[in-house]
Amino acid sequence: KSTVIEHEKKLAAYESVSLVKNGMIVGLGSGSTAEHMIRKLGEEVGKGLSIKGVPSSEKTAQLAKDLGIDLIPLEKAGKLDINIDGADEFDPQFRLIKGGGGALLREKILAYNAKLNVIIADSGKKVDILGKFKLPLETIPFATPTILAQLIEMGLRPVLRKHDGKTYSTDENNCILDVDIFGVKDINSLNRTLIEMPGVVETGLFLKSTDLIIMGQGDETLFLRN
Ligand code: A5P
Repeated sequence: KSTVIEHEKKLAAYESVSLVKNGMIVGLGSGSTAEHMIRKLGEEVGKGLSIKGVPSSEKTAQLAKDLGIDLIPLEKAGKLDINIDGADEFDPQFRLIKGGGGALLREKILAYNAKLNVIIADSGKKVDILGKFKLPLETIPFATPTILAQLIEMGLRPVLRKHDGKTYSTDENNCILDVDIFGVKDINSLNRTLIEMPGVVETGLFLKSTDLIIMGQGDETLFLRN
């Protein structure tokens, strides 16, 4: 990965941490950009910032624990004051594709339960039209082969995600199908169609949740408000 992209990720991640204030309940995203944010948050906690985190994945939970960030379960949190997460793509309407790291389901649950949703991203994530990145769908194992066949018929070229030669398994023990939505005109309607398929648990389309995108671009940090 280019060092410019890494730099942009860090800029966005660090800037997002300055929005976190004492006493807040913070949704902790997943992925490499979120990891920069969590490490920075850990530093601030070390300097006396008092917050509680709600992790969006087992990986994030482990990292946060290692850094000394207090975690609480979602049901104890109620509404998150702020949820900070990365994205695989975002378009001018603040619609996102997420789930490249496989954590889309818990990520979407956190986004739904947050007062403020902040996306941190490098400039490579900004697109005019969603769909260069394959859209992840989380599906239950029982239905996955059937859904795969249906998606082939729909022309969405699904690929069952693998890890080390085995079927990838999410934190909720589900499968991921990565589908090709490039060229699909009505993303909202496609999302409804996909969600309505029994066995599809969630899609990686985050269509309405994002309030603010903080994007690193070169040496600058841009705030894009929805
Ligand atoms: C994790 O499931 C994803 O939704 C991530 O937010 C996404 O893959 C972004 O990851 P990076 O920050 O590593 O690009």
